[in-house]
Amino acid sequence: MKVAIIGAGFVGLTLGAILSSTKHEVFCLDIDNEKINTIKKGKSYFYEPGLDEFIEKGINSGKLVPTLSYKQAITDAEVIFLTLGTPSNADGSLNLEFIYKAIDQINPYLNNNAIVAIKSTVPVGTCRQVQTIINNKHKGVKVVSCPEFLAEASAVYDTLNMDRIVIGSDYPEARKKVASIMEDIDKLAAKIGIDSYSEYTALYKKKESFIRKDFSKRLLLMSLESAELVKVSANSFLATKISFANFIAQLAEQMGADINDVLAAIGMDSRIGRSNLYAGLGWGGSCFPKDVSGLIASAKSVGVDAGILEAVTSINNQQIDLVVSKVNELSKQKKISSIAVLGLSFKPGTSDIRYSPPLTLIKKLLDSDYQVRAFDPKAIPEVSSQFVHARLELANSAYDAANGSDLLILATEWPEFLDLDYKRIKTLMKQTQIIDARNRLDKQKLQEIGFSYYGIGR
Ligand code: UGA
Repeated sequence: MKVAIIGAGFVGLTLGAILSSTKHEVFCLDIDNEKINTIKKGKSYFYEPGLDEFIEKGINSGKLVPTLSYKQAITDAEVIFLTLGTPSNADGSLNLEFIYKAIDQINPYLNNNAIVAIKSTVPVGTCRQVQTIINNKHKGVKVVSCPEFLAEASAVYDTLNMDRIVIGSDYPEARKKVASIMEDIDKLAAKIGIDSYSEYTALYKKKESFIRKDFSKRLLLMSLESAELVKVSANSFLATKISFANFIAQLAEQMGADINDVLAAIGMDSRIGRSNLYAGLGWGGSCFPKDVSGLIASAKSVGVDAGILEAVTSINNQQIDLVVSKVNELSKQKKISSIAVLGLSFKPGTSDIRYSPPLTLIKKLLDSDYQVRAFDPKAIPEVSSQFVHARLELANSAYDAANGSDLLILATEWPEFLDLDYKRIKTLMKQTQIIDARNRLDKQKLQEIGFSYYGIGR
């Protein structure tokens, strides 16, 4: 089957590359010439574990065709996936400009039997609106909502190991066709085995927890509106879980409890679960911030009180300020001039710095006149091209960042930061204090080495 994918971002490129390893021919369109040229060379333009292998395979087999041309991508395509970004508007609602522009662009080339499957995160009602626009020209085209649940840094793993496949449409035959494509990915995944692409999943998920149940048991067919609401509410719930963990961390800190012990115990209740229950700097990235504010805006538009999500956002904003106040407190005791920050990406396993809590923290530290020496295994090029400040130095390694600093902050829990030679770090630093803003370091071991250790809620 000829499949087109519009938008070669994290979702589109991962889906396209993996799908090209099945029987389908995939045309992956983006409007950015540079991105398309990189993909044509068999690699990704962003860091995502395991993805290059699939892109290279697809390019070599000729089944993955990167293109700038709507005509080439859409003509005779049976299914067109829209995987475009939906950033935030100033009022918090989701901006659908890219979606509607793409509809205008694909409309002239659509075949009357085509299916348009929307994977982008959109407010409830968008797919029906798109259906109306397209049906003005092509009565036979059917729109499907097919939300994506992959997370960055485990995009390949998540695409191959779908815990549920949600498909919304008014048309049973359209749902069936999109489901059959997803089932082809599922079959490919069963053939490959889940261990191959699990490098970074252990950070939040236990790979063992994925049990490949029958595809039909994971396939959930519903209306367009229900499928759209699944996506935004899933992300908002995950953000709520993290903010709840951070709220309890604030309490633990005031009450002399250790949040890691508390969350480990709470998480063992199978009704609650351990995932997304880690306290720290709070949630960021390209999805949670915009989806939570998007759902708040949607709720308001239909007259439903969104207080729960407003509280979730407010706790999230407090987490970074709490770390800044800890730094200021320490500096009052003994002046802190230079701070080493380990981690710039919004989470480990990615070079993505969109809405990155570590970066917001750094900006606040710079505003408070501290000198910052930061290091990240992957995100240095992104930061150096987007953010320059006289008092921010980007270091060559974690040790280089620590050199001469008065305080070290663990801001992103990259696995390599957890295994550093902290005895060596101690010899490099001027003052030996650590703020573990992700609660992932071994507190006891660091204290034995001679560090003053401060966590979040510990
Ligand atoms: C998120 C969802 O997890 C995906 O299911 C969804 O498909 C995706 O958004 C999307 O809408 O496209 P992602 O943004 O890649 O994926 O990142 P997550 O791994 O969910 O992490 C989000 C943020 O929460 C990060 O800043 C992370 O550091 C933070 N986090 C996560 C915590 O602070 N504590 C936790 O326990 C878990």
